[in-house]
Amino acid sequence: MKIKRLAILFCLLATASAIMADEFIRINTNNIEMILRVKSDNGRVFQSYLGKRLKFESDLLHLPQGGEVYLTHGMEDYFEPAIDVRHADGNASTLLTYVEHKQETAADGSQHTVITLQDKVYGTQVRLHFFAYADEDVIKTHTEIVNGEKKPVMLEKYASSMLHLTGGKYWLTEFSGNWADEGHMSTAPLNFGKKVLDTKLGTRANLFTPPMFILSVGEQATEDHGQVMLGQLGWTGNFRFTFEVDESDNLRLISGINPYFSSYELGAKETFTTPEFFFTMSYEGLSRASRNLHNWARKYQLKDGQKGRLTLLNNWEATYFDFNEGILSTIIKDASEMGFELFLLDDGWFGEKYPRNNDDAGLGDWMVNSKKLPNGIGYLVEEATRNGIKFGIWLEPEMVNPRSELYEKHPDWVITQPNREIDLSRNQLILDLCNPKVQDYVFSVVDNTLKENPGIAYVKWDCNRFVTNSGSYYLSADKQSHLWIEYVRGLYRVFERVRANHPEVSIMLCSGGGGRIDYASLRYFDEFWISDNTDAFNRIFIQWGTTHFFPAMALASHVSASPCHQTGRVTPLKFRFDVAMSAKLGMDLQPMNMTEEEKSFSKKAIEEYYTFREIVQHGDLYRLLSPYTNPRTAMMYVSEDKQDAVVFTYLLEKVINGGNNQVLYLKGLDPNKTYRLNELNKEPNKWTWFYELEGKSYTGEYLMKYGLRFPMYNQFESKIIRLTAE
Ligand code: GLA
Repeated sequence: MKIKRLAILFCLLATASAIMADEFIRINTNNIEMILRVKSDNGRVFQSYLGKRLKFESDLLHLPQGGEVYLTHGMEDYFEPAIDVRHADGNASTLLTYVEHKQETAADGSQHTVITLQDKVYGTQVRLHFFAYADEDVIKTHTEIVNGEKKPVMLEKYASSMLHLTGGKYWLTEFSGNWADEGHMSTAPLNFGKKVLDTKLGTRANLFTPPMFILSVGEQATEDHGQVMLGQLGWTGNFRFTFEVDESDNLRLISGINPYFSSYELGAKETFTTPEFFFTMSYEGLSRASRNLHNWARKYQLKDGQKGRLTLLNNWEATYFDFNEGILSTIIKDASEMGFELFLLDDGWFGEKYPRNNDDAGLGDWMVNSKKLPNGIGYLVEEATRNGIKFGIWLEPEMVNPRSELYEKHPDWVITQPNREIDLSRNQLILDLCNPKVQDYVFSVVDNTLKENPGIAYVKWDCNRFVTNSGSYYLSADKQSHLWIEYVRGLYRVFERVRANHPEVSIMLCSGGGGRIDYASLRYFDEFWISDNTDAFNRIFIQWGTTHFFPAMALASHVSASPCHQTGRVTPLKFRFDVAMSAKLGMDLQPMNMTEEEKSFSKKAIEEYYTFREIVQHGDLYRLLSPYTNPRTAMMYVSEDKQDAVVFTYLLEKVINGGNNQVLYLKGLDPNKTYRLNELNKEPNKWTWFYELEGKSYTGEYLMKYGLRFPMYNQFESKIIRLTAE
């Protein structure tokens, strides 16, 4: 008996000493923490913890081993690996052990941790990078893979990151959709097995789904309660998220480039750098997590995230391809009179031999169409300047129509498979950005347009098709599987060069609407065109979903015609304005078709927008009533100092009896401040149900506890309420 006890004691001591010798690497922000453990016995590195930041160092010893930090293929193949390397001798297994780690403050102030792992037999090195942003609770990760062999190896899988969660129960919210129907939020539990979110459309990668997800852990998170992770891959191409729940209800989350037809040959001593994966975690529900990302994006990721954004009038839905200098000059004048700050000339201004009068010709030939615009772009820039506004221009520099001079000259510059018929989509082909000459050309399109027409202040960069027949004339036969990756790298090279020469120009990223929407591109772009659907009713949903990840300042939202060109829906002008003003306001309709009342309403609306846009673009977002579950929907923005706030509410269904009386329990206010309420963007000479509250003052506490109460009756009724602290 005594011997048995001694033996147990000995075992316990042995385990304890082994544990004691394990090294812990702590990666933390103000509220969240990831703890990695270097095992003393075998040098393997595990993720022991990901959750709320821990206080006591002594508690680390109690943590379980957890899952391998970057699971390899070929050793213990129970689960999907993060990395799969075919070594030069054909061996397909990799075993990574700890070499060293470093922690320092990065140039942007984040805590940078890099952990180096190595396969002792093959020399393959993996460096895991984590940048932790304290105040925003955001962690940015990526991985470098170094081929330590003397010959090339094949990378079959190369994740940006692998995370382990142990909440027992998980719910995944995805954002799927289609053209003009982007960003539907749908939530489902994750049960045993794998759920994959991915895309293999290349250029217009996010046509059906953007690279972002919401993960609830433990219980299904609500706006203000529950543990939730918001994740995003910064890659303007094919991505893949794999969520794998095991037999013990642990979740492995792998994010990165989609390895689909993307085996990558890595030369001796070369390094493969993955895209970045960004995530935030909140223990106070979704709303907080969104604000974390918005704050982080404005400060660290989005181009000029601390600056303002211009309102603009775009002629796309006003004229489509059918315009001339006279028509545009009138629109410019109208735009200026209504108070817009910029006129954006859309598609159709170029092409001489093959004029761009519809979408089947001219792409690639970026010389002005002298029939439509005899005095060139310069004249229009001057026309805008004369009217006191700025000028912007549409470009789709990555694309070519077969009916173009460019294609006649360079048929080998397009993405297509040899021995197959070319496959057109919107009558166009994609220029092969794997080819450095094509990169030079695409760069020169943007650079020359801007240089030759000084004064252009804004570019809408479009990309209207996805990849099919994925073949490159530039890449050798054995490197065809590099196409998806090299295209994106080529694209980033072009973006870099454009930005180096034109840092001041605002650029909107568009891809037939929201076909390209990711945080890597936002480094170079000021905003997204998130959907070609400008129906304010649909936009409420699209913007609701998208603002989970992106701040309102990055989401261009335009007032368009009624009936809406995409859906045929008839909505009041006020409603259309009230929806667009909850993001970055613009307009996409022909002012010539507006009545004088509509123009003067628009003028006043724009004037009022200028009084509060700062709060929308730079304030904190609080979602109040979801359009998915309520007939009335509402959200609000609060300035950082809590002095100002603006509430938006929309009624989606008519209520015949009694009206809709849903209470708006405001959020994010200072309970001790007193706020005066004023309704904005009122219709002239119209009585409003807000009259009882108009001009009155209430404490923040009252507005958050008792709420804001006023009825709404008619479908597409809307209100904007301004709160000003006294
Ligand atoms: C895409 C864009 C539109 C418009 C057209 C022009 O569809 O999303 O806004 O610019 O191209 O062809």
